[in-house]
Formats: sequence, C-alpha cells, structure tokens
Amino acid sequence: MARQQLIAGNWKMNGTRDALAFFQDIAPAAAASTSEILICPPATLVAAGAAACANSPVKIGGQDCHSETSGAHTGDISAVMLRDAGAEFVILGHSERRADHGESSALVARKAKAALEAGLVPVICVGESETERREGRAEALVAEQLAGSLPEASGEDYVIAYEPVWAIGTGLTASAEDIQAMHAFIRGRLEQGEATRLLYGGSVKPGNAAEIFSLPDVDGGLIGGASLKAEDFAAIINNTTV
Ligand code: PGA
Repeated sequence: MARQQLIAGNWKMNGTRDALAFFQDIAPAAAASTSEILICPPATLVAAGAAACANSPVKIGGQDCHSETSGAHTGDISAVMLRDAGAEFVILGHSERRADHGESSALVARKAKAALEAGLVPVICVGESETERREGRAEALVAEQLAGSLPEASGEDYVIAYEPVWAIGTGLTASAEDIQAMHAFIRGRLEQGEATRLLYGGSVKPGNAAEIFSLPDVDGGLIGGASLKAEDFAAIINNTTV
C-alpha cells in the first residue's frame, strides 16, 4: 500500500488565540492536497484548533504527552486528554524535549505506547547532533534512538521524523543525498519499514520542500518555523502536491 505523504507543522511554544485565523488561511491548500495535513499547536490551542478544523481536512496534534493516563503529575497532559480535546497525533521525543527536559528514548517509548492506547498517532523524532555527524556517528546514534524509542506496534500506526539537531531552526538543511541516505537507513532497520511513514525535519521551507519530499524514502516533513506563517505553510502544501 502506498504511503500517504504527511505535511506536519510544529508550532512549538508559539501562538495565542489570534493565530487561529491560520486554519482558515491554509484550508484551500489543504483541501486541494493529496497529502495528509497536520498542525501541532501549543496545548492551549489544541481544542480551539480542532474546532477550527472541524470542516476541513487539517488534523490537529499535540507536541508531547505524559506516559500515564492521569494522576499526580502537575503541569503534564495525558494522551487521553489530547485525544479528548480533538487531537489525532502527538509529536514525541522532539530533540528540544530530549535536551530541555532530559527525555530518554525509554521514556519516549512509554509515551508512544500511551499515545497509541489513547488512539493517537505518535510522531517519534530522532536525529543526530552536529558533533555526532562530524564524527561519523550519525547512523549509530539514530539506530540507538530508534531501538529505544519505538513502541511495540505495527509500523503503520506510528510516524518517524528524522530531524538532524543541527538543522532545526538554523536555516541549514541536510543535503538531499544525506537525507535520502538516512531515510533509507532508517527504513531498512524497521520491521515493517515499507509501511512506516518517515518525515524529514530541519529548516524545511517553501524553497526546498518539493525537492526534499520527492526523495524516494521521504514521506513528508515536520516543519517548525515555516509552519507559523499560513502563506509559507500553504506554499509548502501547494508546491508538494502531486
Ligand atoms: P524548523 O523546526 O523547521 O524550524 O527547523 C523543525 C522542528 O523542530 O520540528
């Protein structure tokens, strides 16, 4: 079965209610696209975002969830709560959470299990640092993160986002050759690699998305900065629609 391309926006810690007009602005591009379109706003906008997208094909996701369903975890949000608020996906193990909150791959795997049980599709992030790439350890690091972070589930039930840390928010993108090589490497390591969608993330923008998404083992992208402006995100959707 062909893998449907997924174009996902990660708003990170950006956006208040006045950002909700975004959903109307991207609706025509999303409706004309053959790709699945996802926006992961901050948790405060998940419910309002889902309501704003009720009549559009745009889906809403969270940016993290707790590994437990409920309990004494002040400040945290469970996968069940995200689902209840209208989310269909959740980003897990983003490098910013691995760095800012010390999240281990084992924790990411537990969160992914909780997400699947709640009916969410986890988008599990992996990616090497600049030092690891320079020292020739990029594949080993990604293999280690994959081995530790993936839930025991069918490969079509989750998505993997390869995001080299040095390319996130820096304007630097990995070369098409390196992206394809890493995606082929990742696919080769998965039990059901042909069924699993692999996204690229790291400074994807209107000018480079079409080339990146046309690579044989790239099934779409996880887009930070360029997902904050409706015009840019719509251009990415339009340019990459086949
Ligand atoms: P960027 O972020 O597109 O701003 O590089 C990507 C991400 O962190 O998911």
